Amino acid sequence: MNITFNEKNRSFKLDTENTSYCIAICDEEGFIGHAYYGTKLEEEPLYLMRTAEPPFVPSKNNRDRGSFMDTFPCEFPGNGLGDYRDGAIEIIDAEGHRAVNFTYDDFRIYDGKDKIDGLPQTFENEGSLDGKSGAKAKSLEIYASDKTLSLKAVLKYTIFEDSDALIRSVKILNESGKDIFLTKVMSASLDMDSENFELLTLHGSWARERQMDFRPIGYGKTSVGSVKGESSHQEHPFMALVENGATQESGRVYGFSFIYSGNFLAQVEKSQFDSVRALMGISPIGFKWELKAGESFQTPEVAMVYSDGGLGKMSRTYHDLYRNHLIRSPYKDKERPILINNWEATYFDFNTEKLLDIARQAKKSGIEMLVMDDGWFGVRNDDNTSLGDWNVNEKKLPGGLKHLVDEVNKIGLKFGIWMEPEMISPDSDLYRAHPDWAFAVPGRVGTRSRNQYVLDLTRPEVLEHTWNSIKTVLSSANIEYLKWDMNRQLTDLGSLGLDKDNQGEIFHRFVLAVYELQERLVNEFPNLLLENCSGGGARFDAGMLYYGPQIWCSDDTDAIERLSIQEGTALIYPLSSMGAHVSDCPNHTVGRVTPFETRGHVALAGTFGYELDITKIPEEDRNMIPEQTAMYHKYHSLVRSGDYYRIASYRENRYYDCYGVVSKDKSEALFTFVQVVGRPNYHSRLIRLAGLKPDAKYRIEGEETELLGKTIMEAGILVSNLWGDYRSKLIHLTEVV
Ligand code: DGJ
Repeated sequence: MNITFNEKNRSFKLDTENTSYCIAICDEEGFIGHAYYGTKLEEEPLYLMRTAEPPFVPSKNNRDRGSFMDTFPCEFPGNGLGDYRDGAIEIIDAEGHRAVNFTYDDFRIYDGKDKIDGLPQTFENEGSLDGKSGAKAKSLEIYASDKTLSLKAVLKYTIFEDSDALIRSVKILNESGKDIFLTKVMSASLDMDSENFELLTLHGSWARERQMDFRPIGYGKTSVGSVKGESSHQEHPFMALVENGATQESGRVYGFSFIYSGNFLAQVEKSQFDSVRALMGISPIGFKWELKAGESFQTPEVAMVYSDGGLGKMSRTYHDLYRNHLIRSPYKDKERPILINNWEATYFDFNTEKLLDIARQAKKSGIEMLVMDDGWFGVRNDDNTSLGDWNVNEKKLPGGLKHLVDEVNKIGLKFGIWMEPEMISPDSDLYRAHPDWAFAVPGRVGTRSRNQYVLDLTRPEVLEHTWNSIKTVLSSANIEYLKWDMNRQLTDLGSLGLDKDNQGEIFHRFVLAVYELQERLVNEFPNLLLENCSGGGARFDAGMLYYGPQIWCSDDTDAIERLSIQEGTALIYPLSSMGAHVSDCPNHTVGRVTPFETRGHVALAGTFGYELDITKIPEEDRNMIPEQTAMYHKYHSLVRSGDYYRIASYRENRYYDCYGVVSKDKSEALFTFVQVVGRPNYHSRLIRLAGLKPDAKYRIEGEETELLGKTIMEAGILVSNLWGDYRSKLIHLTEVV
């Protein structure tokens, strides 16, 4: 890993173990150009910027300055001065003009990575809450300015010793002496030649999150984004430019993952000259940020990954990056308690006795924690009331939380709780006392969703009140886990705390407030296990992983639906972060009946737990739970820390799914095979596993034969017809030493 500045060429080269990224300063004016991103090179192919070809740089041919601006591969493109591709920044200056363009001033290369304020961020010290500098990262800051406006930009880059990722963000500083507005600031922009790339994104809906979607990149702009105030069920803050024909293990892939949880834009634009410009950042829709003289604005980070080894290598790079440099929780490297959550078991209809019945049976089956979901507070007997009234409902839980938690602890289980801190029900004491605490546009009928409004956390008094509510609940008993939910998106963006010129700041300020609350949470309750959630997986993003090590993947717990949801999620995020539970059948979301064993195998790819009434499920299912909890203990450190390999995708073949993890030293591997649809008159299925040592011998658990890794990967192994739909099998391999 190194970052160098070549004085002669005025160029920067950022080298990770396997990749190079090259930037160069061109022309006397100091245009900052992008030359190359890809497989590691010894040389800098600066000729790729084509500055020696017509239209040439302005110092040689100012007559065609506009053409230069429109073709130059620019590192951080501005607006309104000839580059008609979408830029990375848009402003309104004090005179109302919108032109802006940054040229080079200076740079700094340093060991480590400086902290940024108020945002989730990658860090070099594994697991450190303070992100102190050390030797494991190197950073580059390029200082640039718009010479007319005296507006400065710091283009920030960080690479890590143990990763092929490149972290980027931008800071804008207003040194103009006048107030301006930012109407768009992207975190990263990348200009390259267009080479038959496809765009890979993740789309979805409630209960259908993160489905992989490929599309050709045509001329013009192709984008995904969110304007819902969260990363959303529908589109995901991720995109990849994938070389046509790339597979899991071959082909060039450029991944962009946004470390942010609010509105985003991920866009690729193919120009008239067959170049592509990729942009990623906070969505400019509805964004208008007043940057007063002397103030600065820091964008969230984008993690870029270049892989010359297909999608699989990209995924493994992201998994390691996020495990080693983003997730801070002490649980990151620990086995998570196997939990049982009462949501699908009881919904709102529970009381202390019911929960203790579940806890007692759970304990017998090897489950380690009871999580009490929605409905324990105010008068919340359905989802119409009480959000904001975080006082226990004594009718359901006589003796209060402390009594319940003590009883659960006596049974031998840990206790976890559900909260939805960002919300307020119109039918709540909180709303009756402070109707102005919800976002609202004066004079308009408020848009209810799940009969609730969103708290205006941009106001300090609302944030403080919310923090105190969370703190009071968590301090009132021995609560060791929090499921932080968020069940509606933002609308009616009006805040009484901001004046008219600042209403366009609400979306981002809201996300910053959520981060502030979660930062307080991890500092005040460092041993709490935090699982984020948003109506299932609408806020499953890299931003939230900075605060909690796991996120509820989806409200769809059906084992078959989960295959594609978990495949899309694992494209970027480590398995250790995917909240996955075994639930009852017929499945509450799709009505499908699957074998209990398959449900266990599929949930094993995530954090593992149960979401069912253990006192009521069929006895044969209940009897299988001790076996499943033992299975979790046997495999979970491998699942949590291993390298992920996708072998086959039900999404593509419609018959079966197969994926697995291989330990870092390749001495152990666990693959999961799910036969989604059985086929009559059909032989056993050939699958080629991956990630093993070619020369090592492996034993497949339950079989006599020992095979070389090479044989298993090249010739493959046979999985016999599992007789029936929705059947599954674990394939456990250990190296024979
Ligand atoms: C949505 C979550 O995804 C569910 O698991 C559950 O907690 C409900 N909210 C409760 O309202």
